[in-house]
Amino acid sequence: KLTVSDLDVKGKKVLIRVDFNVPIKAGVIGNDNRIVAALPTIKYVTENGGKAILFSHLGRVKKEEDKKELSLRPVAEHLADLIKKPVTFVPVTRGPQLEEAIGKMNDGDILLVENTRFEDLDGKKESGNDPELGKYWASLGDLYVNDAFGTAHRSHASNVGIASNMKQAAAGFLLEKEIKFLGNAVDNPVHPFVAILGGAKVSDKIGVIDHLLSKADKVIIGGGMTYTFYAAKGMKIGNSLVEKDKIELAKSIIEKAGDKLVLPVDSVVAEKFANDVPSKVVDGEIPDGYMALDIGPKSVELFENVLKDAKTVVWNGPMGVFEMSNYAKGTLEVGKFLGTLKDATTIVGGGDSTAAVQQLGVADKLTHISTGGGASLEYLEGKTLPGIAAVSDK
Ligand code: 3PG
Repeated sequence: KLTVSDLDVKGKKVLIRVDFNVPIKAGVIGNDNRIVAALPTIKYVTENGGKAILFSHLGRVKKEEDKKELSLRPVAEHLADLIKKPVTFVPVTRGPQLEEAIGKMNDGDILLVENTRFEDLDGKKESGNDPELGKYWASLGDLYVNDAFGTAHRSHASNVGIASNMKQAAAGFLLEKEIKFLGNAVDNPVHPFVAILGGAKVSDKIGVIDHLLSKADKVIIGGGMTYTFYAAKGMKIGNSLVEKDKIELAKSIIEKAGDKLVLPVDSVVAEKFANDVPSKVVDGEIPDGYMALDIGPKSVELFENVLKDAKTVVWNGPMGVFEMSNYAKGTLEVGKFLGTLKDATTIVGGGDSTAAVQQLGVADKLTHISTGGGASLEYLEGKTLPGIAAVSDK
């Protein structure tokens, strides 16, 4: 297995797959974490005399009109500001314009290719990992580095396709860091290892719950999926979110997990899914006419007790509807408490949880905030991610 620092990049055209799939509205980037996280690899290549040729997708390109909204041009401009160097943006994904731009690069230069998913308009060439496309992109460079952890669960032309056509492929620093934290946490954790799993649906998290139950000392459940577990225990749930077809599954998880599984003991409830309605805290069952929207203070205390001696914590999924201020407290308190754990490695993975800790301002005190959404979920399920496998094969 190679890392970018094992490569001799001087004078070489280094194709780097990054994940610049960031939120952009009217040309303005909402959250640039993924771009910032890719800087070490890009800097390493350019500072050592390599030519950095960057590939990324942005959103899902389904029709010609999507191209306007989904161009990577704003990202090129933002990257240039962050890295304090010019970034050549090439508004196409193949052909003479791209080849000439690469031909003109000097050592240490940076070039960003247009959104790789523009190729999807012509028969899903990128997402379908069209063999010709991977081969063509691979032909543009001498070396390949995959630093797109967020895309590692996809087997697309710009990650798996390019890698399989290169003699040498390596992981970038971000990919390496993500594997180090998420991988160690799951496969080689310092115990006690506690997993916190939240979010709305049990169905999204079955694989993660199963895998982490076999690895962790305790699995804390929070968020909307709590109430499918409550229903499985025969408790009243009022109008709370429930996946009826997952109640049996929740029952079997409860049986299998025994006292490893920790469920909330109280909830913040309201009559409507809205922030501007009265809310109250109830113990246990949810009264008729109410829905649970956050965990309550006794649950926070219970969770803190479970977490206080933890040496490894993996957190995926918010504890409540954190987007609404009245139901953000559970997520906020858990996040704040994790920040106070002195000897623990605390890791957050998954799109919603990452957004929650950042929005609530508790991210800085945690050990590692993953850049992966779907990718970190699949990693926590113990799956082999094709984007990682493709570079570790080399
Ligand atoms: C993500 O944001 O999870 C990755 O960039 C992958 O994007 P996708 O789900 O559109 O493949």
